[in-house]
Amino acid sequence: MCGIVGYIGTRSAVPVVLNGLRRLEYRGYDSAGVALLHEGQITVVKRAGKIAELEAALRTSIPECTVAIGHTRWATHGQPNESNAHPHMDCRNEIAVVHNGVIENYAALKRKLHDAGHVFRSETDTEVLAHLIEQFYVRDTNLEQAVRRALTQIKGTYGLVVVAAREPDKLVVARNGSPLAIGIGDNEHIVASDASAIVEHTRRVTYLEDGEMAVVTCGSFSISTLADVPVENFVQELTLNLQEIERGEYEHFMLKEIHEQPDTIRNAMRGRLIVEKDEVKLGGLDHVRDTVLGAKRIVIVGCGTSWHAALVGEYLMEQIAGVPVEVEYSSEFRYRHPIIGSGDILFAISQSGETADTLAAMREAKVKGATVLGIVNVVGSTVARESQGGVYIHAGPEIGVASTKAFTSQLTVLALITLMIARAKGVSREKLSLLVRELHELPEKVEQVLRTSDRIKEIAQKYKGATNFLYLGRGANFPVALEGALKLKEISYIHAEGYPAAEMKHGPIALIDEQMPVVVIAPKDAIYEKVISNIQEVRARKGRVIAIANEDDHEIEHLAEDIVRVPRTYGFFGPIINVIPLQLLAYYIAVARGVNVDQPRNLAKSVSVE
Ligand code: AGP
Ligand code: GLU
Repeated sequence: MCGIVGYIGTRSAVPVVLNGLRRLEYRGYDSAGVALLHEGQITVVKRAGKIAELEAALRTSIPECTVAIGHTRWATHGQPNESNAHPHMDCRNEIAVVHNGVIENYAALKRKLHDAGHVFRSETDTEVLAHLIEQFYVRDTNLEQAVRRALTQIKGTYGLVVVAAREPDKLVVARNGSPLAIGIGDNEHIVASDASAIVEHTRRVTYLEDGEMAVVTCGSFSISTLADVPVENFVQELTLNLQEIERGEYEHFMLKEIHEQPDTIRNAMRGRLIVEKDEVKLGGLDHVRDTVLGAKRIVIVGCGTSWHAALVGEYLMEQIAGVPVEVEYSSEFRYRHPIIGSGDILFAISQSGETADTLAAMREAKVKGATVLGIVNVVGSTVARESQGGVYIHAGPEIGVASTKAFTSQLTVLALITLMIARAKGVSREKLSLLVRELHELPEKVEQVLRTSDRIKEIAQKYKGATNFLYLGRGANFPVALEGALKLKEISYIHAEGYPAAEMKHGPIALIDEQMPVVVIAPKDAIYEKVISNIQEVRARKGRVIAIANEDDHEIEHLAEDIVRVPRTYGFFGPIINVIPLQLLAYYIAVARGVNVDQPRNLAKSVSVE
């Protein structure tokens, strides 16, 4: 779930591990710890709270060492306190384990181990691993044999690293459902759950697959399956660069990522939108093109922001390409025995590509015979690997927990897929031409919106004390209202709801009084007049209207207390522009309230547990 870093080499290990953990901070965590190997002994230091606390604790009397493992925990089993923080150890303090994921059968194993005399010191599922390995780590057995035997008894997900005092020259790592990469340096290796902890040391990495483990020493590593069948190494070059994972001149990653959007949207279209020919080329769909074009219907799944993107995708594909689309939360799709089969397409949308609910939905659809395709940001992630094809959104690493640039890139890719289908289905050349042009002009229009940041900052100052917000939008802007509300909730902890504007009168209208800010997305599109009526309903109850409106809309000046101006575009592409002020509003309100924007409480960047 959260962060793992391990180092074995010739340098001082603790600074490398701490630095790596800091690179993983963005994933969200509640406690952190390290284990270091020194003169045949393991020393564990851990702290609840931030890495800075751990670092302070490590400053006092820690021996020099060249082997260490570290972890940032996002609690699933047991409170986020010091004793539950990783690493966890066996009874004799000879084995230390860091683990991401969930051991599903931990309760039964814990009972058995307890009956066999093991003493537990935490409430975590992870500690079971340490004692189980201890159980198998008998005379004449090496650590990898003990880990292998222990893992055959485990049900659940893990990315893990194990060290043993008796064998200080190795790290044993394993993966099942939670990513683990080995960075290959010069007489050193850095293992981590995320390449961003590796890239400053080396670009050469290999990723473990599910059901694989590896023994890693200073100078070499060997991968095998749990059944001890050797696996050939496939070494890749990381394309990630350091600049992409640093904040640069920006105060927060979220602000940096909001401002990157003109470029990230361009990157999503680069080489794919062929303006002169009104054509779309999507290499990752070439081999399934006929299946996509012949699909009876398309199902799109995702969670959180990716689900909101899917909802916009439904408008795009149905209204422009005329294909029936259904959108589902990944977590609901899987458990409702969906009626899906061959001839159907399932698109899974995921920024991280590691979201457990989305992976489960994909696997369910695959078993039932559907063609499963991915719309993913992280290259080589599990969603990407398990898809039968798909499109990368190429937004670059998204570090802020609140997703921003990934959303607009997901929408751009959904628009591209829509145009590809629409063209093949014979949509008129004039219409296609218009759509291609509008899409092509979006990055500039997003730049224009970003230039209104100061105005949005003023609005944020004015409303920062509100306890509730309502967000309203219609048509393709209804999901934008949901996304605006989610952004505000996530990073400012203000309660916010998104609604289709017309639905307000069926209930939420009861909440409106002179305190309630109501953000209304009101572009001059086909349903503008309807949205204006909804604004009147809010005003009649003294609600405070903040409108997202087009530059040439003067009528709105009499209706809204505050207005953010956005350029016009083709209606169904509007969400890509209209969401930008909502991201900035949430950001500036959160900053004004003093919340840690990049690491809001309780949230993790990628939710790899169900
Ligand atoms: C968005 O701001 C969230 N933090 C969250 O809802 C996220 O979109 C969701 O967990 C899905 O993640 P994914 O795109 O990596 O699958
Ligand atoms: N399930 C483990 C725990 O609660 C690991 C959590 C994580 O992935 O950070 O300790």
